[in-house]
Amino acid sequence: MSEANAPQQRANQAAGTIEALTKQIQQLKAQRDAVILAHYYVPPEVQDVADYVGDSFALAKLAVDLPQQTIVLCGVEFMGESAKLLNPEKRVLLPEPGADCPMAHMVRKADIDRVRAEHDDLAVVCYVNSTAEAKTWSDVCVTSSNAVKICRALPQRNILFIPDMNLGRYVAEQLPEKHVILNKGYCPRHVTINRQQVIDLEEAYPEAVVMAHPECPADVLDEADFIGSTKGMIEHATASDARDFIVCTVVGILRELERRNAGTNKRFHFPATTPRCVNMDQVTLPKVAACLQNPAPYEVHVSEELAPAARVTLERMLEYAAK
Ligand code: 13P
Ligand code: SF4
Repeated sequence: MSEANAPQQRANQAAGTIEALTKQIQQLKAQRDAVILAHYYVPPEVQDVADYVGDSFALAKLAVDLPQQTIVLCGVEFMGESAKLLNPEKRVLLPEPGADCPMAHMVRKADIDRVRAEHDDLAVVCYVNSTAEAKTWSDVCVTSSNAVKICRALPQRNILFIPDMNLGRYVAEQLPEKHVILNKGYCPRHVTINRQQVIDLEEAYPEAVVMAHPECPADVLDEADFIGSTKGMIEHATASDARDFIVCTVVGILRELERRNAGTNKRFHFPATTPRCVNMDQVTLPKVAACLQNPAPYEVHVSEELAPAARVTLERMLEYAAK
């Protein structure tokens, strides 16, 4: 291999591997009666092989309506658990069972018990980025795309929002009629985004639309023209006539932003730290192929002790969201 041609040859090899794996995955998927769902944060080549790509709410909702008996969930553990809880009779596979969301664990039962003891009129609202166990301590689940709507509709005035303090604070600001109590969880990726990074980008692109995920810190949200879930941001940018967008979330979202805006001159700019979700990055094409080839080690199980109560909170979310 001449040195000048080496990078091109490596790129060709990588493209050949992706093509071969994609073909293999399509064949295995048909043999297994499987459907592949992917979150916008997993690597682009994994999004490309999926039948559906979506935000957490879209993936949970979709999983209920699909005819296939096997669901391959390209995302992190809580997404696989949610799909399994809502579809107990189906087989749900996580290509990387070790891909977890650190925020899912950032809440303690003792803190919930203490707040429950202090308030008669309390709803414990659980962001879907949580363990199945935390869901059993809660009254209803929400995602970033429906948290404000669902909290507004709850009969209780007091809301304990777990685990994410940033989404909880955003909900509180939208609903002054509610008393929202925060828990100290956070997304380790979104909290790397700070206001100065956004200001630097605004100086470079003064006409840009600033979009932010509500898991970002409050001072970043203060700079935003649009706050929403991954799907919300993609739809906002796609409907907009603006050229430049400052995107305050994980860079995995770029794949769908570019796909939906192909043929336009839109440009997407990310904070200087280029936030990546290292957990979502663990979901790779060889792992998708491996779980379809030999499903058992990749199957999601939720213990019978937790499943009924955790399922109720997710079903309540679907009911409230549909109202
Ligand atoms: P979305 O529901 O907006 O896709 O967010 C999921 C998530 O994990 C954000 O960090
Ligand atoms: Fe969890 Fe943050 Fe990754 Fe979302 S981006 S899955 S909240 S670690």
